[in-house]
Amino acid sequence: MRGSALFPWLCSIVAFVLGILCLFSGHKDGYLEDYDIIRLNTSTLGHDLVPTSTSSSSSATSTSNSISSFFSNLEHNVTVSLENDLGDIENDIADKLAEELGIQQWYSMHLMTLCEGMYKPNATARNARLNITHCTNQTAMYHFDIQTVLNQQLSIGKYDLNLSDLGWSDDIQNGIDSLNAAMDATFVLYCIGIGSAGVAILGSFIAVLGSGSRLVSFGNWGLTGISFVAYLISSVIVTVFQIQVAGIVHKYGNDIGLFLNRGTKFLIITWVATGCMFIACLAWVFEFFAGRRNMRKRLEAEKACPPVDWSRCRF
Ligand SMILES: *[C@@H]1O[C@H](CO)[C@@H](O)[C@H](O)[C@H]1NC(C)=O
Ligand SMILES: *[C@@H]1O[C@H](CO)[C@@H](O)[C@H](O)[C@H]1NC(C)=O
Ligand SMILES: *[C@@H]1O[C@H](CO)[C@@H](O)[C@H](O)[C@H]1NC(C)=O
Ligand SMILES: *[C@@H]1O[C@H](CO)[C@@H](O)[C@H](O)[C@H]1NC(C)=O
Ligand SMILES: *[C@@H]1O[C@H](CO)[C@@H](O)[C@H](O)[C@H]1NC(C)=O
Ligand SMILES: *[C@@H]1O[C@H](CO)[C@@H](O)[C@H](O)[C@H]1NC(C)=O
Repeated sequence: MRGSALFPWLCSIVAFVLGILCLFSGHKDGYLEDYDIIRLNTSTLGHDLVPTSTSSSSSATSTSNSISSFFSNLEHNVTVSLENDLGDIENDIADKLAEELGIQQWYSMHLMTLCEGMYKPNATARNARLNITHCTNQTAMYHFDIQTVLNQQLSIGKYDLNLSDLGWSDDIQNGIDSLNAAMDATFVLYCIGIGSAGVAILGSFIAVLGSGSRLVSFGNWGLTGISFVAYLISSVIVTVFQIQVAGIVHKYGNDIGLFLNRGTKFLIITWVATGCMFIACLAWVFEFFAGRRNMRKRLEAEKACPPVDWSRCRF
């Protein structure tokens, strides 16, 4: 029984569990929905479509001109109904627009799923809760294709719009696509990190029960080291991904009413898992060298004793 191995054992368990949470958040409609990587707030997406009373009251003719020039770009025959229907929600854009257009108020990206839903009680309420409408099936290394999802929903919606009607820039999806390979790598890395943390839990348990074999310490050092590096690279990639996508959405999305919330909770658990694995790894390094020192002492003790007379030796 070796008490000192309990500590890295516990660290490995924590890192293992947190890694599983990172991997499976957003599983089965709503499990750990808060732990998203990024969440797009689309509650005001397309707010330009809504005619405002301030502009129409100030100069009716110029507004109708600008609106009709805006809508003349639309190939769909929806101008009249858009103006009529959307005019009513002028004071409630954030809470009503998405529903009116047939889209959801938020879309979240998890490691293996894309979830969508509405804010409850409404999008502008403080601390609005997330009411999930749907999550995709879990797919390893899926691609966050928000453009296709939105286009599909808009075309089913009653105005039969598509994203270019809302002023959506292809650069948003192109930017996300350019980061896909890195996000695919995080999936693999989380699997490696979780797998080696799992084996390290077993290895540490053997060490806790055992007498302090250096081989076991060395094996655990290796396992926790691999797990640490895998978690570290994943966490860095996710952190950079969030910053990059936030930049893209800020640049191309905010004007058309698209906003991004970075997943702080996900970031916290992935970095805590990394930290736990780092501590576990350090602990095994210490165990290994402590074991070596003990071994050397034992060898010296053996040398000091005449081999025939074992009874006088103390091990
Ligand atoms: C969106 O609509 C515009 C014009 O209404 C059209 O040119 C474009 O091809 C459409 N895009 C998609 C993806 O349907
Ligand atoms: C669609 O266009 C036709 C004529 O092209 C017009 O009579 C009709 O009112 C339009 N409908 C809407 C909803 O704009
Ligand atoms: C979503 O974005 C709108 C527009 O910026 C904002 O008013 C609203 O508070 C946001 N909602 C949440 C829950 O972030
Ligand atoms: C949104 O919800 C908050 C809190 O329930 C409420 O105070 C506010 O009036 C609501 N806003 C709208 C536009 O319904
Ligand atoms: C989510 O919204 C639906 C429809 O408005 C409602 O039936 C359901 O109770 C809501 N769920 C939560 C958790 O608020
Ligand atoms: C999702 O999974 C369910 C049950 O596992 C299956 O019936 C359905 O076809 C799947 N949907 C997609 C889009 O793969």
